[in-house]
Amino acid sequence: MTGRADVIVGVQWGDEGKGRVVDVLAKSSGVVVRYQGGANAGHTVVVEDEKYVFHLVPSGILYPDKICVIGNGVVIDPEALFEELDALKNRGKSLARLVVSYGAHIVMPYHKQIDTLLESARSEGQKIGTTGRGIGPCYSDKFERVGIRAEDLVNPQILKEKLMTNIERKNEILTKIYGAKPLDPEAIYETALGWGKRIKPLLGDAFLEIHEALGSGQNVLFEGAQGTLLDVDHGTYPFVTSSSPCSGGACTGAGIGPGRIDRVIGVTKAYCTRVGEGPFPTEDKGSLGELLRTKGGEYGATTGRPRRCGWNDLVAVDYAVKINGIDGLALTKLDVLSGFEKISVCTAYNIDGVIKNHFPSSCTELAKAVPVFEELSGWKEDISKCRKFEDLPSAARDYVSFIEKRVSAPIILIGVGQGREDTILRGI
Ligand code: GDP
Ligand code: IMO
Ligand code: MG
Repeated sequence: MTGRADVIVGVQWGDEGKGRVVDVLAKSSGVVVRYQGGANAGHTVVVEDEKYVFHLVPSGILYPDKICVIGNGVVIDPEALFEELDALKNRGKSLARLVVSYGAHIVMPYHKQIDTLLESARSEGQKIGTTGRGIGPCYSDKFERVGIRAEDLVNPQILKEKLMTNIERKNEILTKIYGAKPLDPEAIYETALGWGKRIKPLLGDAFLEIHEALGSGQNVLFEGAQGTLLDVDHGTYPFVTSSSPCSGGACTGAGIGPGRIDRVIGVTKAYCTRVGEGPFPTEDKGSLGELLRTKGGEYGATTGRPRRCGWNDLVAVDYAVKINGIDGLALTKLDVLSGFEKISVCTAYNIDGVIKNHFPSSCTELAKAVPVFEELSGWKEDISKCRKFEDLPSAARDYVSFIEKRVSAPIILIGVGQGREDTILRGI
């Protein structure tokens, strides 16, 4: 009997609660795999009132009997990785075995520096609001075919050749375009050799771990970072990240064929948030946005920035269902909506006076979208102790059913609090 391969993707602009959903589902899986993105991600898991925020390490790491894999599609900042592993060890945790793909790319100091310089050189209206973690510049080098891969860190000669060529070019950019100081190639080489020593025992054939686990009947979870609307192809370009968070990204970023994926689970908050720049049709810049931010604790897990907030956008969720082939949705933070007299949801856009039911692929169109809201009844009760769908107040159940109907996907998991136990499972 072969195991099940499930991909977990964000359906909004990230921070939907993917980490906590992965933590819940990891219990019945043998392997958890990150397939794209890097330390721009911040995935929060709360277990027995202890909070963990994972940036590079898969959210299955807290189960000592699992294997966690960082796939070839991820960009790794070794300092961030080691810091994360040290912090976990310092908390006295026995952790899952971690395997890092030889093919994952390495975020070098110049990537982070260029990320910050590029962002500050962008004029108002063109700023992306990146996390400054070097993600865009590292993926640029990957696609330019000059990137440093994890395997290079343990091959001193290759590392030296690649680094010297790259730093010579980066120094031209740094000094001539940005007027910054040149970098010292020898110092970076020495640092990278140190990273190589530490990463060596973690390196492996990541794809094989996945296929061997599936072959032996274990389930494998693919943990997306960011979200559909931040996808470099399907998101609100250019206000996106530089990777493929959508379910297809799991195939290229981990080494699994599309036909081998059994289920795609999309994670959506019960409302909507975005951090960074770019269009966000349902954003509320007034008191509602402020209330959602306060009630939901909407501050970035990586950068601490306040998140922009608004009602849920079912046009966008419907788009994500189609783009990712979503089989089921996980609806998080339903508890945050307790106490609202009325809850609105966006079910269509008005673009230049025309009502559209579909998310436009043109960003110029999306920038003009005015949300069309439908109003539903709210509920007063605290729902954080509900563990079965039937325990929820009828207005909350109606809200869930309304979403399912509009986006044609079942809601198979509901989050009613931050903790692992604060979860309603529905036939998952
Ligand atoms: P991720 O990047 O998708 O993993 O999400 P983040 O960790 O960046 O942000 C989600 C935030 O919501 C975290 O602080 C979680 O602890 C919290 N969270 C997740 N699910 C729920 C839920 O159902 N209820 C509440 N109140 N908080 C939740
Ligand atoms: P998780 O995995 C929310 C946003 C940044 C910026 C844009 C590009 O925690 O959901 P980048 O540094 O990737 O070049 O920034 O993408 N962004 C995220 N927003 N959650 C994330 O990850 C994000 N990762 C990147 O704010 O708008
Ligand atoms: Mg996050």
